[in-house]
Amino acid sequence: MHNVILEIANLSKRYYTGLWERQAVDAVCDISFTVQKGDIFGLIGGSGCGKTSVIKMALGLSRPSGGTVLYKGKDLVTATRKEWYFLRKEIQAVFQHPQMTFNPRRNIYFACAEPVRLYGLAHGKRDEERFVFNMIEKVGISRDQLKKFPHELSGGQAQRLSIIRAVSLNPELLVCDEPTSMLDVSVQAQILQLLWNIHKERRMTMLFISHDLDVVQAFCTHVAVMRQGKIVESGPVHKVFETPQHEYTRYLISSRL
Ligand SMILES: Nc1ncnc2c1ncn2[C@@H]1O[C@H](COP(=O)(O)OP(=O)(O)O)[C@@H](O)[C@H]1O
Ligand SMILES: [Mg+2]
Repeated sequence: MHNVILEIANLSKRYYTGLWERQAVDAVCDISFTVQKGDIFGLIGGSGCGKTSVIKMALGLSRPSGGTVLYKGKDLVTATRKEWYFLRKEIQAVFQHPQMTFNPRRNIYFACAEPVRLYGLAHGKRDEERFVFNMIEKVGISRDQLKKFPHELSGGQAQRLSIIRAVSLNPELLVCDEPTSMLDVSVQAQILQLLWNIHKERRMTMLFISHDLDVVQAFCTHVAVMRQGKIVESGPVHKVFETPQHEYTRYLISSRL
């Protein structure tokens, strides 16, 4: 039984940019944190502080310049494509733009059936349909909408679908990168409620990025505060919010609207 789900140690990411001269950008510098089973671990900090870079490395979408990412003790950085095929079932993600997770050329039915097809889990057409119907029911999409394309959904509906699809194979870890920041305030609450229900039902572990401190305070169990690629402070969410130790954390908390 693994209680530690994700262990990030001394993680760094340096990008090289520049058209004429190679310029190094240290987006993530030597950060470490641990996510335990059942935690909702929040990552906060200003725009460009390296939050997305961290989770891309945790998802195997980008290679660290240094450090390690362990999932239940397994090194994700050196995992092969074949290993990722199995890991992908356990580590799923929800992004800021829901439309980006769907293939724009395939209809909603295809999008919903993709997880079971990828893992060969449906026994025949009927079984696959049952899986798809079950998924759309939770999001309030009707069966006659299945022939439509993902861009025909509203932003909130698309995000709800991307969440339901991400958790459809019951992953151990759900990584959310600003899942509500592109949506209307009224829809944001629905999305958070959905994530909260999933967390409660399955005790799903989450890594949750947001720049909305109110959301993080209400939703997360733990939080790490990032600034310019470094973690300046981390701990249980109530402790960090009630007795912030670092001056930058105090600044963030006092400057929220
Ligand atoms: N692919 C990339 N190439 C070059 N620089 C990048 C790349 N991705 C991100 N960066 C830079 O790294 C820094 C951190 O970016 P990011 O991780 O997206 O921050 P956040 O998600 O906190 O806004 C920023 O300065 C950004 O411009
Ligand atoms: Mg980001």
